Amino acid sequence: MNSFRFCVPTDIRFGEGQISCLPEELGKYGKNVLLVYGGGSIKRSGLYDTIQELLKDFNLFELSGIEPNPKITSVRKGVALCREHSIDVILAVGGGSCIDASKNIACGAYYDGDPWDLVIDRSKMTKALPIAVVLTICATGSEMNCGAVISNEETHEKLEIAGDILYPALSVCDPTYLYTLPARQTAAGTADIMSHVFEQYFQPYDGAYLTDRFCESVLKTCIHYAPIALAEPDNYEARSNLMWSSTIGLNHLLTVGKGGAWSCHAMEHELSAYYDITHGVGLAIVTPAWMRYVLCDRTEARFAMYARNVWGITEPDDRAAAEQGIARTEEFFQSLGLPSTLREVGIGPEKFEEMAAEAVRTSGIATRSYYHLQPEDVVKIYESCL
Ligand code: NZQ
Ligand code: ZN
Repeated sequence: MNSFRFCVPTDIRFGEGQISCLPEELGKYGKNVLLVYGGGSIKRSGLYDTIQELLKDFNLFELSGIEPNPKITSVRKGVALCREHSIDVILAVGGGSCIDASKNIACGAYYDGDPWDLVIDRSKMTKALPIAVVLTICATGSEMNCGAVISNEETHEKLEIAGDILYPALSVCDPTYLYTLPARQTAAGTADIMSHVFEQYFQPYDGAYLTDRFCESVLKTCIHYAPIALAEPDNYEARSNLMWSSTIGLNHLLTVGKGGAWSCHAMEHELSAYYDITHGVGLAIVTPAWMRYVLCDRTEARFAMYARNVWGITEPDDRAAAEQGIARTEEFFQSLGLPSTLREVGIGPEKFEEMAAEAVRTSGIATRSYYHLQPEDVVKIYESCL
């Protein structure tokens, strides 16, 4: 295994009713709380009222309307609120978008300039407000990692900001909050979890046996439980297993001993930066195409291992097993109701070259990924998704 450091300081409170810890936990930081949430799902579900009641002794300020693929304009509003009200702690209630916006707000509050500066140059990030999370959609793993992805509509950039000071201090993960998720979000979230695992599983380094087995377990959990969650939205067992899969999927546990640049995320972030599509939907489209493109003599053994260990494929020939595993992956995403072509989400070839250049410029896919991709390769992958 490659050497690694594994230090994840987030306090996870998992299970029904765990939200009751909020007053005590937030009280450790102070009374002034910035509540960050999205377009209103927490009001419809009743979670907003629960939080108001629990935190009635706090000074609660609100930043609502965080959009999926959160925008720097919302972050700027949040930073202004933190300064105006001397915020002590940020409470993000929602999914990756609310948590990611909160992370950028948290460090922006201690930075004199524009918070976008911190996205493009993380060395400017020095300090951050504490962040607590109440998770309502399982997908990104942002509840237990130190990354955030922020979009700048003016420049069509969707970039990652990361740093040890951005780990949430606390994340409440109550699977019952997932019961109200629309089927499309359940499906997209599952594709995102699985993609995180693929990104870490398909890496140049081959000697992290235990990490690979963890990866396969998370994939099998998603494959087993996502159809159940779609058929029975309030199935606690399915929701809880998916929720923990999302957290484990991207809290760095599946990367230890390995490492390297991610491929499908680099390509997908351009799709959602230019066309504002749902992240998990973009991944469901790009991932099988990427798998087919990079399948070659060098990579076939690992794809065959994936096919056999995750899908139970018994085909003895590596290339044939690998191809079957990729086909099963694509069929699985389709079975969840996810689109499999870019046309289905309104994307044509017009911006392929521009997006491919950006995908390579803003990531390590040309030099540090499982299969190095140049802009012309990315264009070909996009074309195969049409
Ligand atoms: O805005 P509201 O009304 O709350 O509705 C949301 C939103 O429309 C809805 N939703 C969430 N919980 C719900 C619910 N609807 C009903 N019931 C509930 N319980 O779902 C929609 C999507 O929410 P969002 O937070 O955008 O989803 P997700 O968690 O998938 O986050 C996506 C963002 O995270 C980034 C993505 O690129 C994207 O911008 N990522 C962040 C990562 C990280 N920080 O580590 C890694 C990922 O790879 C990813 O890039
Ligand atoms: Zn993702």
